Amino acid sequence: MTQDELKQLVGKAAVDFIEDGMTVGLGTGSTVKYMVDALGEKVKKQGINIVGVSTSKRTAEQATALGIEIKDVDEVDHIDLTIDGADQIDKNFQGIKGGGAAHLWEKIVAINSNKNMWIVDESKMADELGSFPLPLEVIPYGSKQLFKRLEAKGYHPEFRMANGKHVLTDSDNFVIDLHMGHISEPQELAKDLDSMTGIVEHGLFLDLVNTVIVGREGGPQILK
Ligand code: 5RP
Repeated sequence: MTQDELKQLVGKAAVDFIEDGMTVGLGTGSTVKYMVDALGEKVKKQGINIVGVSTSKRTAEQATALGIEIKDVDEVDHIDLTIDGADQIDKNFQGIKGGGAAHLWEKIVAINSNKNMWIVDESKMADELGSFPLPLEVIPYGSKQLFKRLEAKGYHPEFRMANGKHVLTDSDNFVIDLHMGHISEPQELAKDLDSMTGIVEHGLFLDLVNTVIVGREGGPQILK
C-alpha cells in the first residue's frame, strides 16, 4: 500500500468513532482530508447531525462544501472528539504537529476537546521525536531577533518559506522550523519554548491524545 492509501484507510476508520449529535473537531492535513471526505459521505447517507469545529480555513472550506455544518470554536460549549493528523508520534503518544502550519488552531481545538484522536500512516511512528522538524508559529514583529535567540540555543531554526515569501498561518503569523534531530526531553523543551517571547505556539503536543489509529499494511491499528 502507498502512504496515501494508508492515510485513506485511517481516515475512513476514524469516521466510525463519530456518532449522531456529536460536536467534532476537524484537524488539518492530507490524512484529515480523507477523513472529512468519509464524514461528508456518512452525513449524506445516514442523515446524521454533526457539528464540526475546524482547525483551519482549508478544512472548514472542504467540510462546508460537503454539507457538514461548521461552527467556530467560540460558538460551541464543548467538543466531544477531535480527529487530527500528526507529523511524528513517539512511543509515549507525544507528538509533533504543524507540518501544515496549522498547529496553533489545532492545539486550541485539541485542548478544548473531551477526547483527541490522531490518524497517521505508519511512517509517522517513531521511538523518539525530533527527526521531523519542530514547527513554531511566531509573531512577524521581531522574528529575526527571535531567530537569533533560537540559533544561540542550538535549536537550528529555519524560516518556512514558499516561493521566496514567508509561509503565513491562518492567523497571519510566520513559521520557524527547528531542525533538532533528537528531542530527548520534550517536556523541558516545551517549557523553554513556552517561555520565549514572540513564539505564539510550538508544535509539541504533549499528553493530549487518547487514541491513535495507525495505518498499516494489515489494516488500521487502534492504539489507546
Ligand atoms: C497540520 C498538521 C497535520 O496534522 C500534520 O502535518 C499531518 O499532515 P498529513 O496528514 O498531511 O501528513 O499538523 O498543521
